Amino acid sequence: MAACSGEGAGSGGNSGDKPADLTIGVSMPTQTSERWIADGNSVKEKLEAKGYKVDLQYAGDDIPTQSQQIDQMITRGADVLIIAAIDGTALSGQLQAAAEAKIPVIAYDRLIRDSPNVDFYVSFDNYKVGVAQASALLVGLGVQNKDGSKGSASGPFNIELFAGSLDDNNAHFFFNGAMDTLKPFIDDGTLKVKSGQTKIEQVAILRWQQEGAQKRMEDLLTSSYNDGTKVDGVLSPYDGLSRGIITALQNAGYGGANKISVVTGQDAEIASVKLINDGVQNSTIFKDTRLLAEQAVVAAEAFLQDKTPEANDTNTYNNGVKVVPSYLLPVQTVYKDEIKPVLIDSGYYTAEEVAVGQAKG
Ligand code: BGC
Repeated sequence: MAACSGEGAGSGGNSGDKPADLTIGVSMPTQTSERWIADGNSVKEKLEAKGYKVDLQYAGDDIPTQSQQIDQMITRGADVLIIAAIDGTALSGQLQAAAEAKIPVIAYDRLIRDSPNVDFYVSFDNYKVGVAQASALLVGLGVQNKDGSKGSASGPFNIELFAGSLDDNNAHFFFNGAMDTLKPFIDDGTLKVKSGQTKIEQVAILRWQQEGAQKRMEDLLTSSYNDGTKVDGVLSPYDGLSRGIITALQNAGYGGANKISVVTGQDAEIASVKLINDGVQNSTIFKDTRLLAEQAVVAAEAFLQDKTPEANDTNTYNNGVKVVPSYLLPVQTVYKDEIKPVLIDSGYYTAEEVAVGQAKG
């Protein structure tokens, strides 16, 4: 369908090329989650504002679709690829083809594993995301204060753990950060994982699906909480999962006068920000996708000008073949009190979008 972009195609760009002659392929995993739509739009807008052509594709969370879309970007003559992988281990073939065509590859948010052909990685500090999620759980339970000091509650509290998709490298970083933070409290008996399911393989949700999390929470309530005990807190690594978990809890009678469990999250999705404002979800972790998109554009432009993008971490992200130079951004915990200063005052959302300060609907 598309004509080959000709000059500069597959060259990774030459310093002499004009932006209008250069195409950046942007491969995003799915449109079922707001963050990836925001990521895709931000990257596209920022590149187009500099005059580049952009080939943006979403893969509907289907691995063969993503592989095919990247193959097409390569044959259509992309000069740089920016990829947020669905399965971080499934793109070695595409990356080999990109390397042979001298197309630099930037892994976006999720590390691409098992390939020497990942040239740069832009993401957030994913281990710290996990630490922040576990800390929010401790704060929500009253075991710890926001400043990290000891809280007034001592438990014991029943908690359950959730993790993301095992084929997403980030899921492991989130879980490790969270477990390192929770372990001392599990060891001293403050927290009890009543189901006994504490291994990532036992608690992971394939493709980060909300329905998968709802189903697992329902199963946990039936198997481990049918004796009248309550689940006090749930470690959830992503807002979509959090909403599935909350639905299962509400269907089982939690909420309203029966205090709902402390449920964490990630991504500050609008539906979850509303739940936080209403006191239903405890917290989320905000990752400013505008800043991530900006870093991806800076890295892409460096490659197009035959320069090396600036990394701020050259130790952490070993993809199984090599340590990929990375640029990592900080993250922020959002409880109800942070919705206005962090999400609204920064222009990320309008007050109307998250229905803050309005009557509850
Ligand atoms: C991202 C998270 C997101 C999750 C599910 C992860 O790779 O880092 O921000 O919540 O995927 O889409």
